[in-house]
Amino acid sequence: MAIAQAAPLLSVRGLTRRFGGLTAVDAIDLDLAKGELVSIIGPNGAGKTTLFNLVTGLDRPDAGNVSFEGQDVTGLSPETLAAEGIARTFQLGRVFGNLSVMDNVLIGAHTRLRAVKPAVPLIGPLLELGLALLRPANVKAEEERLREEVKVILSRFGERLLPRIEQPAYSLSYANRRRVEIARALALKPRLLLLDEPTAGMNPTETAEMQALVAELKAEGLTILLIEHKLEMVMRLSDRVIVMDEGKKIAEGAGEQVRTDPKVIEAYLGHGLSGAADQRESAA
Ligand SMILES: Nc1ncnc2c1ncn2[C@@H]1O[C@H](COP(=O)(O)OP(=O)(O)OP(=O)(O)O)[C@@H](O)[C@H]1O
Ligand SMILES: [Mg+2]
Repeated sequence: MAIAQAAPLLSVRGLTRRFGGLTAVDAIDLDLAKGELVSIIGPNGAGKTTLFNLVTGLDRPDAGNVSFEGQDVTGLSPETLAAEGIARTFQLGRVFGNLSVMDNVLIGAHTRLRAVKPAVPLIGPLLELGLALLRPANVKAEEERLREEVKVILSRFGERLLPRIEQPAYSLSYANRRRVEIARALALKPRLLLLDEPTAGMNPTETAEMQALVAELKAEGLTILLIEHKLEMVMRLSDRVIVMDEGKKIAEGAGEQVRTDPKVIEAYLGHGLSGAADQRESAA
């Protein structure tokens, strides 16, 4: 639950992104306290993913700002923000098909480690190379430690990923590829995790597993922003729900409160969707 006095972990003010004549994200304000799980819902095209892109540096806002742990991080690159502890997964899934499960997840761990290395452009890599040549045993031990770390993360997914650890990601099922992406985000040891429809295209069993994992992460104190069309999951997991429509925030509050808000019902009906998720699931 949010603690009123604590400074928010993430704070977004007046965030706006236009594509030609369309305002995809329109003056959004958002505060997220440490340990909170906030869901963002809304009809297709409401601007949810664009908002994630702005927060994670994949896209730059036309107006407004984003601060993380009290620092203005507006417009910083995704790599910088990842190193700062902002991890995300993508709506359509992004894994390196030719890399193994292990290597896909190791990328997350390496991104984190690069953060503590010198940021000087040339000296950094040279120093790294020097260290690698001088202390190969250390480097090997470090790599081994990371591989163990990855195994612990993969074990969160039961027997879904561990037995496939050396398989290339392209050979995995769709649901497993999505799990690999979440594992990679976790290997970053994030302080903020953004999940864009983590259960899209998953069957009810897979959805229940994902819901349990997100609940576990929340119980461990991770701060989470979740975009999700499956309202049951949203209602169960969220401390707070934000509803977007046509780029704007149209409602915010406890799950049940927004679910019965006439503005929210109208937004969904106005788009001809009595349940965006249901239509999408049957289309998938
Ligand atoms: N790069 C882009 N160029 C032009 N228009 C874009 C771009 N990205 C998003 N849009 C438009 O911005 C609006 C918001 O899109 P966005 O993907 O953020 O919606 P969403 O709420 O995530 O929808 P969904 O539930 O379908 O994933 C849509 O009208 C979309 O077509
Ligand atoms: Mg989206």
